[in-house]
Amino acid sequence: MAVQRRGNVKNSDSKAIEKKIKRANAQRQTFTWRGFIIVLLLLTGSSAVVIWLYMSLSDDVTETLVSRREVLTEPRLFLVQCSEDYENYKQFPGCTPKKCGRAVIDSVVTKEEAQALRRLAERGLSLGGSDGGASILDLHSGALSMGKKFVNIYRYFSDQIREVFTEEDFTLYRDVRGRIQRVIAETFGLDSSQMYLTKPTFFSHINSTSAKTTHDEYWHPHIDKVTYGSFDYTSLLYLTDYGVDFGGGRFIFMDPNSNRTVEPRAGRVSFFSSGSENLHRVEKVVWGTRYAITVSFTCDPDHAIADPTLP
Ligand SMILES: *[C@@H]1O[C@H](CO)[C@@H](O)[C@H](O)[C@H]1NC(C)=O
Ligand SMILES: *[C@@H]1O[C@H](CO)[C@@H](O)[C@H](O)[C@H]1NC(C)=O
Repeated sequence: MAVQRRGNVKNSDSKAIEKKIKRANAQRQTFTWRGFIIVLLLLTGSSAVVIWLYMSLSDDVTETLVSRREVLTEPRLFLVQCSEDYENYKQFPGCTPKKCGRAVIDSVVTKEEAQALRRLAERGLSLGGSDGGASILDLHSGALSMGKKFVNIYRYFSDQIREVFTEEDFTLYRDVRGRIQRVIAETFGLDSSQMYLTKPTFFSHINSTSAKTTHDEYWHPHIDKVTYGSFDYTSLLYLTDYGVDFGGGRFIFMDPNSNRTVEPRAGRVSFFSSGSENLHRVEKVVWGTRYAITVSFTCDPDHAIADPTLP
């Protein structure tokens, strides 16, 4: 009896246990599903957060100030508050920035003039060229990128120089820089005769070849007044078209809340006060060749340089 009872008990016990196991299995299954859904939701949620963080941290708020297709016959001016950079330098009335900002105009230099200047740059740069993607030619000092260094084009190619450049080239260059100077003066309300050309003023040729020395690293954000000291107004004359002759290579003003781009266009002049209010960089060129001329001005006659002349 005792055995039987025990057997019965055992029987009913094992049935209960079986039921429990089944229930537990079923529960485990629903738990697995629930867990799976929770994990999925967590993953989706966290990846959304990661994407959002990535977008808000790395993907810029980019605004196009002037696109390549637009043609500005009058300067388009964007005023910004002047930085304190100028206070550390001697003040020159009629020139030291009181009004700061950036402007773009397409009617100072014609397409034909831009083409002529581009050919001048091509001829000069064909004598040298950086191993990396960024080469310069400075008609004032004669500096020309060559390999990982620079040579003086006037000394290095003294015999051939008149086969490369003509008097007309230099006349055009001087004429264009004079017009740029006047439009900067008019736009910022300055006395053009109180502004002086300063160095470096140079042609640049940028393609997608990777940098070989720091001279090739044109894309770092910088402030011209901090980098060069003498600069008060920086201007850029573009000689090729963004999206047509090259990709990437847009000019970017890095403002606290937005990156504002200027798309190069042959004959386009972009100019700005050189202080921290105009922190900027150039986007990496990804294909083709970008040609431009940097023309810099100072208010300090001690930093003035003369127009280049053909030796
Ligand atoms: C501007 O671009 C830089 C570099 O690409 C980036 O680090 C910065 O967050 C951008 N600024 C804004 C406001 O989007
Ligand atoms: C970029 O320019 C350099 C210097 O002129 C040249 O040696 C190189 O072949 C060019 N790279 C491309 C991709 O065109």
